[in-house]
Amino acid sequence: MIHLTDKHVQALALAERDDTRLEVFEGTVRSSKTVCAITAFILRVLKSDDLVHLIAARDLDAITDNILESNGCGLLSAYPGIFTLSKGAIGNTYLAYLNIKGKEGKILLAGYDKKNAWEKILGKTISCILVDEVNVADEDFIRECFARQTSIDHPFTVWTLNGDDPDHFIYKDYINYCKPLGKVPPTTLADIVKSPDKEGWYYFHWNMKDNPVMTDEKIRKASEIYPLNSHYYNIKILGLRGKAEGAIFASELSDRDYPDGLVKKDGALAPDGLNKDGYESYEIGIDIGNNEIKRGTVITIAGFSRDYSEVQIIDTLTCKSTEINALVAEMSSFIALFAESLINKGRLRAIWLDSYGPIQLMLSTLRKSLAEKGVYAPVGEVPKFGKDQGRKARMELLLILIGSKRLTFAPRCIIYIRALAKLTYGKDGLPEDENQPEMDYYDSLCYSLVNNMLRLNRKV
Ligand SMILES: Nc1ncnc2c1ncn2[C@@H]1O[C@H](COP(=O)(O)OP(=O)(O)OP(=O)(O)O)[C@@H](O)[C@H]1O
Ligand SMILES: [Mg+2]
Repeated sequence: MIHLTDKHVQALALAERDDTRLEVFEGTVRSSKTVCAITAFILRVLKSDDLVHLIAARDLDAITDNILESNGCGLLSAYPGIFTLSKGAIGNTYLAYLNIKGKEGKILLAGYDKKNAWEKILGKTISCILVDEVNVADEDFIRECFARQTSIDHPFTVWTLNGDDPDHFIYKDYINYCKPLGKVPPTTLADIVKSPDKEGWYYFHWNMKDNPVMTDEKIRKASEIYPLNSHYYNIKILGLRGKAEGAIFASELSDRDYPDGLVKKDGALAPDGLNKDGYESYEIGIDIGNNEIKRGTVITIAGFSRDYSEVQIIDTLTCKSTEINALVAEMSSFIALFAESLINKGRLRAIWLDSYGPIQLMLSTLRKSLAEKGVYAPVGEVPKFGKDQGRKARMELLLILIGSKRLTFAPRCIIYIRALAKLTYGKDGLPEDENQPEMDYYDSLCYSLVNNMLRLNRKV
């Protein structure tokens, strides 16, 4: 059930007007930006004489979670019977609906993460476009969206985003040209007023208090996800713009004292300390080192609780070998020893590998070597996605897990905490990668978690 505040009503009234060209909803997490954007989009789509529209988010999972379902406030969950999920001739999914004049229209669904996927969908004239988390999409995609609307009489676009680098193209080329309405944080307002307003372009800033379901207690809990004063706290909890600079994780981790809960007795061990079936499932991440510098292969074993509310890094190996056959033997011995300690072998779900060298060869030799030792868990290449290969998503996952104290380390894995504490932001807002040893631990750790990224994020 969607509740409307005065702010929602103001934003929706604008969306209904034919001369409103762009609405931008920027602000904190859980501030009702997406829900309001969905509602604005629907109002405009249903009254439009044009019959092809577009919803875009990072990928189809994000569209399903945040836009179609959205905890009961999404297109399918809040408007049952109005929109129907259908499949097109080339297999792409879209929403079918009838507009207020009874004409059948289509809402295309596109993930902007994969260029070949959205290029296929965008070869059309499109009228209304909703882009969720628009700062994540790349420039080509945004430009293409505007190009698709040029022949339409009353095109409409609605965007949502959390704060980002003030120099981001999305601000400089678009958002700063909006007319700000309502209360806007002073630093953001200062940015916006420098550029002239474009007719029909509007900007609203949102915070958690604008969301009718966020109680004080929920706001307090959500605010604790990111370390106070960190870059992510500023952009996600305060909804401000800012550059990612300095240490990424250090405010939560320090070399000398580890905050409560970060290092925990090995939860993989049962109370008798004999077996390792303390977690529901286990996955292993392996970052294969750079052969030229003769180091850097790190194996990470992660244990996941049944509901993914907890993850523990329970074991690690920094390999000594660099020659491929010796390295594979060293890796498989370590993994086999762990697998043997499990009562239920099926709990070792997967082993994920990333490598500088020919990955297919590594995968098959490791698979073979493990099978010889009686380990049959699937061995696969680390899933990569999006323009940065998933680097930002992996960093954000770790920030959330650490900030909300859901990630712990067994005492023999303290080396990860030391490594994480040293990582800083590079110019691109991602961990600065200079082939330093800390990156090997960081990557390997990420790879042990990445396959469960959706499940771990959903828990928040
Ligand atoms: N107007 C509303 N009425 C009822 N529930 C709402 C409303 N707005 C938001 N919610 C609830 O709050 C949740 C979070 O809202 P929403 O997804 O719009 O936040 P957001 O600002 O887009 O956050 P993020 O930056 O994390 O994407 C929704 O899934 C929904 O359950
Ligand atoms: Mg949102």
